[in-house]
Amino acid sequence: MRFLVVGGGAREHAIAATLHRAEAEVYVVSRNANPGLDRIAKATSRVDPTDPARVAEFARAHRVEVAVIGPEAPLAAGVADALRAGSIPTVGPGQVGAQIESSKRFCRELLARHGVGGQPRYAIPTSVEEVDRAVAEFGAPFVVKPSGLTAGKGVWVQGADFNEPKDGAAYAKSILVQGGSVLLEEKLDGEEFSQMAFVTDSGVYPMPAVQDFKRALEGNRGGNTGGMGSYSQRDHLLPFLSPADRGRAIEVLERTVAALRSEGISYRGILYGGFMLTARGPLLLEFNARFGDPEGINALTLYEEGNFAELLHGVATGRVDPNLVRFRLRATVVKYLVPPGYGDRPQAGGVLELDPLGIEADGVHVLYGSVESVGPSAVKLSNSRGIALVGEASAIYEAGARVEAALKRVSGAYYVRHDIGTKEDLARRTEHMRAILSPGAKPSPIPLSVAAPAAAPSSAAPPEQLIG
Ligand code: AMP
Ligand code: GLY
Repeated sequence: MRFLVVGGGAREHAIAATLHRAEAEVYVVSRNANPGLDRIAKATSRVDPTDPARVAEFARAHRVEVAVIGPEAPLAAGVADALRAGSIPTVGPGQVGAQIESSKRFCRELLARHGVGGQPRYAIPTSVEEVDRAVAEFGAPFVVKPSGLTAGKGVWVQGADFNEPKDGAAYAKSILVQGGSVLLEEKLDGEEFSQMAFVTDSGVYPMPAVQDFKRALEGNRGGNTGGMGSYSQRDHLLPFLSPADRGRAIEVLERTVAALRSEGISYRGILYGGFMLTARGPLLLEFNARFGDPEGINALTLYEEGNFAELLHGVATGRVDPNLVRFRLRATVVKYLVPPGYGDRPQAGGVLELDPLGIEADGVHVLYGSVESVGPSAVKLSNSRGIALVGEASAIYEAGARVEAALKRVSGAYYVRHDIGTKEDLARRTEHMRAILSPGAKPSPIPLSVAAPAAAPSSAAPPEQLIG
């Protein structure tokens, strides 16, 4: 089968490599060079991946049979609609469905309209006065989120990105003044996890749960990034995540797909729920309309039993054979090698020397992100995440140790989070969750009735509606 992969990061390298193993022919549209994709692809185009007409034209010229869209920007731009209009079945929602990610306001309002629980308390102010009112009514730490796409970097959390409520309010107002839409949310305490699923007309097919490390620096300090690394556990749960809580998260995904469908919005692609596990159960932070980067790499590393080309063809055409949705029972750890200063002031241009064959021989996979090949074993870093190394083992810390061992085969100036997947970090997270869930723990704030702006439907349904 002939596949188009849109996007040029390590996530797309993982998608293309998994298709390649299933003997698919891969064609690629990406803005940047990617040595991994260049090696796999039959043909590569540098047309703008967010230009629907140009992408569809490239796909037609190469008689592509199925398209897979990696990043959010092409989805938000309507690339999937253009491909479908050209009779190319596509993994990825159209522009309307992609709003589940590209408009946090659309997402919260859809879920509220359909009583899908598992949402935090939020407000959608539409004037500077409403910002002040909402902040006063929250009366507790809060989070400011631009409604639109910000590559994971626009969210401000009180206590991490600002301290005084007035500074959060000023940020929210600045978004409104620039003509944007903004959400305020109660700040949740807990552990985050990503639950992705294949979604098509025949159902919702979950992948293993994954935990992403969003903050740039070790110890979860520094700014929010697209993700510095991630891990998944052998049983597809996480050290702090029970089968029941994962089931609740999957239920939020299923109810969201039903809500979209009942509004006449077809969704064939990947749905990714970013959740915070709290004392009130898993609460939804955001949806993404695509594989996580890096979380998709964890899931795809485990997808080896079955035919990935056939699975994606099924997603794109509306009917998935559940026997094809199988993931091996192994733990995985992904670590991104990024330019020094990434997350704040990345220094592009540094060269990394690496021994990919030696790394692969040690059982660690090398997935290339936005790097340029400058020699048989050398790559130049850009401003973005450079190389993802993926280890697998039966325990998370062993998979992490494999990646750490592989780092000995890489030289040059880069930053990597050594704390991802260590026994110490896993213990800290489990203890954090245990303290939150213990009966003596401080009760979580009772939801107040945050005045919803006139234009918006009433505030989020309490999580009990889903869970109870
Ligand atoms: P989002 O783009 O909504 O996933 O937000 C980016 C990051 O901000 C999340 O991964 C969390 O680390 C943090 N965040 C978002 N919403 C909240 C919230 N309501 N409470 C605490 N942290 C949050
Ligand atoms: N790793 C977070 C994301 O893909 O959005």
